[in-house]
Amino acid sequence: MTPSRPAAQQIVLVGLSGVGKSTVGRALAERLGWPLIDTDDAVTRREGKTPAQLITERGETAFRQLEERAVAEAVRTAPAVIATGGGAFMSARSRRALGERGLICYLDATPGEIARRVQGAPDAQERPLLGRELQSRLYELDDERRPFYNHADLWVPVQERAGAAGAVPEAAVARIVRAWVTDGPRLVSQPSRLERLGDAAPARVPAAIVDTGEERCPIWIGAGELERLPERLRMLGLGGTVFLISDSTVMEAHGQRVARALAAAGIAGASYIVPPGESSKSLRVAGELYTWLAERRAERSDLVLAFGGGVVGDLAGYVAASYLRGMPLVQLPTTVLAMNDAAIGGKVAVDLPAGKNLVGAFHQPRAVIADISTLRTLPRRAYLEGFAEVIKHALILDPPLLGELERHVARLTADDPDPELLACVTARSARLKALIVSSDPYEHGLRAILNYGHTVGHALETAGAYRHHLHGEAVAVGMMAAARIAERMGLIDEALVQRHSEVLRAYGLPLAASGVRPEAVLAAMRLDKKVQAGRQRFVLLDDAGRATVRDDVPAALVEDVVRGLIEP
Ligand SMILES: NC(=O)c1ccc[n+]([C@@H]2O[C@H](COP(=O)([O-])OP(=O)(O)OC[C@H]3O[C@@H](n4cnc5c(N)ncnc54)[C@H](O)[C@@H]3O)[C@@H](O)[C@H]2O)c1
Ligand SMILES: [Zn+2]
Repeated sequence: MTPSRPAAQQIVLVGLSGVGKSTVGRALAERLGWPLIDTDDAVTRREGKTPAQLITERGETAFRQLEERAVAEAVRTAPAVIATGGGAFMSARSRRALGERGLICYLDATPGEIARRVQGAPDAQERPLLGRELQSRLYELDDERRPFYNHADLWVPVQERAGAAGAVPEAAVARIVRAWVTDGPRLVSQPSRLERLGDAAPARVPAAIVDTGEERCPIWIGAGELERLPERLRMLGLGGTVFLISDSTVMEAHGQRVARALAAAGIAGASYIVPPGESSKSLRVAGELYTWLAERRAERSDLVLAFGGGVVGDLAGYVAASYLRGMPLVQLPTTVLAMNDAAIGGKVAVDLPAGKNLVGAFHQPRAVIADISTLRTLPRRAYLEGFAEVIKHALILDPPLLGELERHVARLTADDPDPELLACVTARSARLKALIVSSDPYEHGLRAILNYGHTVGHALETAGAYRHHLHGEAVAVGMMAAARIAERMGLIDEALVQRHSEVLRAYGLPLAASGVRPEAVLAAMRLDKKVQAGRQRFVLLDDAGRATVRDDVPAALVEDVVRGLIEP
């Protein structure tokens, strides 16, 4: 028996300044009928000056001491909701104190999004930093503090669609209350949690997490992950038989490693290998897989392991979503595209003759396990293609990532790319997708920004009947189209359009399309499912790292830009 500690009696909110701790805290306090204690307010009340003033006048160290004192006082009240200042959780002593009786919740949004909110707030003019300066300072703070915020018990994504004010606090409050009721006591009384909180070291966590509030999917990224597979499955509590689904190319290149790892751990399994290529994403192949699972008497407690690119992930994912009304699924992506995009988010599907991805489901995997070393065998064109989605994530959400991609072209596009850098960039990009998906798991709004470059991109694919362009290549041209449209609408300047073309070209991606007729592309766009009430929806940037969804793009402008991007 562990010595008894007071049960969970507080909800503690941590995260960057401006992320919404006070707003969420107020709503939580109201819902629970508890007092709200804001440690920044407590310091201000005691000293008669705001944290910003105190830091300027007395220095950071002196302020941190006042803050520690405020935390020590705050934790005496129970029950309570405690909203902490952005830096308070950097103190090991404060972390431990807050963890004694509190469920610690980390509110997370991109620094770009936080900057946008801070700027729109009524007290914006009193802030010491504004505009680009504020945004880049927030990105620095995010890098510095995230490893410590990751000590939290609960991760709460609060990314918001521009203009959708109000929706997020409600969703965040609901998530926290649900976790509090179902899981709070267990989380707070975990063995060695307090020692961990009081430790000076940053938290050790997966590269990213998808957490929809109902399901949680850790994403591990690194070299050697295939060998760690049995250990990961154990951590996830996944026993039973492993039904591995892959394609022949991937199995030939890397199948041995998975088979050996599973066998060494004494895990029973069977495998089914489909031909490589999009044609395997069909109801016919799905049918073969159902028969195979039935013959082997697969049960709901067994596991489907999708080992390959997006085709295998979508196919095996769809089978896992539907067989026995749902079996556990783990994604082992082996392409850049799948690691950064397809394997993350729970959308699974097969194609019909009438169109791609027409039959599908939302089925979150239990985990995504990406072994970077498998990318070495990818053909060069397929490897580079995947960077279109990485560049997309950077353009819509993460200017510092865009900078990294620009700086490290040579190391990332080399025949033998630097594995550590590649893992880092993949983790950062995967984290962005995971944040968006977690904030909007069923694609009600925010998730639409992930379609940047895809309106024209999909139309190019359809018009070229998927012959001329790989998906990422079509999206690259689509992002050029979106950039030019945004420029002509006065949203962005020529320099950002130039940045699009330079970074895409550096990764070997096309800036224009060929072998398709502009009329066919424009016709395909009119049939696209993103057309609502006759209006074409476009994801456009209004700055690097800031995407908005617009339905007021003049048709003539679209036509002009599309024609300009198709080579005769
Ligand atoms: N579910 C989603 O959210 C989502 C998102 C984006 C794309 N997708 C889907 O993903 C699919 C495209 O994914 P993809 O580009 O990974 O295609 P893919 O799975 O067809 O893989 C591309 C090719 O690379 C081979 N390959 C895979 N890994 C390899 C490796 N490590 N070494 C050598 N060869 C390897 C494959 O055999 C295949 O021939 C499409 O069907 C698309 O619809 C789904
Ligand atoms: Zn895509």
